[in-house]
Amino acid sequence: MTEQRFWLADEAATVAAGKSLANAVKSVASADGVVIFLHGTLGAGKTTFSRGFIQGLGHQGAVKSPTYTLVEPYEQLQPATWHFDLYRLGDPEELEFMGIRDYLAPGNVCLVEWPERGEGILPVPDLELTLAPERGGRSLAFRARSAIGRALLSHLAEQADFAASAGRQQTETDQD
Ligand SMILES: Nc1ncnc2c1ncn2[C@@H]1O[C@H](COP(=O)(O)OP(=O)(O)O)[C@@H](O)[C@H]1O
Ligand SMILES: [Mg+2]
Repeated sequence: MTEQRFWLADEAATVAAGKSLANAVKSVASADGVVIFLHGTLGAGKTTFSRGFIQGLGHQGAVKSPTYTLVEPYEQLQPATWHFDLYRLGDPEELEFMGIRDYLAPGNVCLVEWPERGEGILPVPDLELTLAPERGGRSLAFRARSAIGRALLSHLAEQADFAASAGRQQTETDQD
């Protein structure tokens, strides 16, 4: 399974989708770590989705947008998670100065908004998702880019509650 598409009626559905992906990450628990790219224009819902994901891993407090800090750490979570927003990154090389290699350490999860800004330095992700305004809500398309990404999509497909609340449009495609 390499692609899945959903339609999210409202903000709560976007948060629920993030939580479902967190559940999938918990069950796939990769020793290699997981890199997830979030694509979409300003206001598409990337931070909203990330909030659902981070709270789904058990974070109790608020989830700040890392627009100005570039990265917010959630090291206490299992797995340890880093939430990036690279919108204001001047040059991909700045990621090296930030110590991106350490963030990408085995077992960690990196959620990356605006990954386009880090091209050339960021690795190929395990999973990419794209949010876009559609019919008053949002479309959400996942694309797996690794075996871990495909395993995550399989787990996501098994979460009937998410599929129901998200209003699945179209299920999987199995081309690699
Ligand atoms: N499925 C949805 N339908 C309608 N509005 C949504 C949906 N998901 C999120 N939103 C709204 O869209 C905005 C998204 O903001 P945000 O998550 O900060 O976007 P981004 O991080 O992509 O710039 C928020 O106001 C949020 O309430
Ligand atoms: Mg954002």
